[in-house]
Amino acid sequence: MQSRTICIRVVAATSHRGGIDTARPLLMIDFLTLLRRDHHDLELGLDELLQAVTVQQLRGALDGVRLGLTAHAEAEDIVLCAALMKAQRRDALEPHIGRARDAHLALEGSLASLVCARPGTPAWRERARFLRIMVHDHACYEEETVVPAVRELAPEVYGTLAGQFATERLRQLAMLQPSAPIYIAELAQAC
Ligand SMILES: [Fe+2]
Ligand SMILES: [Fe+2]
Repeated sequence: MQSRTICIRVVAATSHRGGIDTARPLLMIDFLTLLRRDHHDLELGLDELLQAVTVQQLRGALDGVRLGLTAHAEAEDIVLCAALMKAQRRDALEPHIGRARDAHLALEGSLASLVCARPGTPAWRERARFLRIMVHDHACYEEETVVPAVRELAPEVYGTLAGQFATERLRQLAMLQPSAPIYIAELAQAC
């Protein structure tokens, strides 16, 4: 496995979701470790969203989930597709990458459905709980099936994935806009 030294700090939009903190040099960081940390942050963010009381808490938690999930899914897609192109056993790996891609599209659809519901309503809470379940299922499938498959079927590239993922995730976050100028109530009325 190759070692990578990464000195980049990734900061998401909320006080709770710090994202992947790579400010300190991380040697031999593993791709699975980064994904687990992201998945854990997303589940925590959705718990906070469901427990939010004030508009500020709601906005912060929603921003964290929206930006975190979008950057995570996009970075995973890019990194895993690149790994697939280089894999010697591409045919065996392709179904796993395809299912991961399908899961990302489903997550993005569920997130869009949540963002377009009026916060605090029964429908909104149901959508937030459903997204929480989807994120958990996504995490289990990826951590227990996809990552081991990549490690087994593309060992020649696995060691490079952590650095690529951290870099791509940072790039995706830099392109996303927090919803700071928009009030949640106005957002709900607009949808
Ligand atoms: Fe994924
Ligand atoms: Fe993931």
